[in-house]
Amino acid sequence: MDNELKVPNHIAIILDGNGRWAKKRNMPRGYGHIVGCDNLEKMCDVIKDMGVKYLTVYAFSTENWKRPKEEVDGIMNLLRDYLKDAENFKDENIKVRFLGDRTPLADDIKALMLKNEDGSKDATGLNLNIAINYGGRDEIVHAVKKIIAAGIPETDITEQLISDNLYTAGMPDPDFIIRPSGEYRTSNYLLWQSAYAEYWFSDILWPDFTPKQLDKAIEDFNHRNRRFGGV
Ligand code: IPE
Ligand code: IPE
Ligand code: MG
Repeated sequence: MDNELKVPNHIAIILDGNGRWAKKRNMPRGYGHIVGCDNLEKMCDVIKDMGVKYLTVYAFSTENWKRPKEEVDGIMNLLRDYLKDAENFKDENIKVRFLGDRTPLADDIKALMLKNEDGSKDATGLNLNIAINYGGRDEIVHAVKKIIAAGIPETDITEQLISDNLYTAGMPDPDFIIRPSGEYRTSNYLLWQSAYAEYWFSDILWPDFTPKQLDKAIEDFNHRNRRFGGV
């Protein structure tokens, strides 16, 4: 990549297109998720090495439970496998966190999430957020409930207070949101946080997404004029 380019501080990616990638190869959808997960590991390293501080990936939405049980179970097993060696993130200097409602997840997965978060909490490289059972609307509902439960009066309700009660509390908003696979929608991702994010879409399916596409995306990002409502 051109060294003059500035990298976004916070990149978010919607990991989409695994199922179609597998279908094109006459393979079950679950195979697409396996290859998509491998690609996430590769791209994570590349993004970390670029000096990006935050990467937030959409791995499972609050709506994805509608899928056949076999597919959902396959994704959960993949997650177990991905998290089983809790030292991995720490060893790679990645601070991992999970965004979303953990309540309906299996107990062993919840425990693995905590173990990975705790084990990597002092890492100083990339901050990796993995959105699991995440929905932007659900996140806002949770924030409102927390605020009401804390008895906060109406006069103290501010944008900052709402931000502070989201799963992303304390993190900067995403600057750049990438959606591969030819869909042009947010699918309930980071609804509050994306207010001024730049979007980048590509027809490439996630398992085929390479560092070269990322370079192209970042080059385009550098040509965006972010005005934040100003002139
Ligand atoms: C994204 O790939 C992964 C998840 C939503 C878990 P998809 O499974 O949505 O792949 P397509 O969109 O059907 O190709
Ligand atoms: C968004 O992709 C969710 C994830 C990638 C985890 P979907 O495949 O679920 O989105 P839709 O259904 O095409 O909008
Ligand atoms: Mg999809």
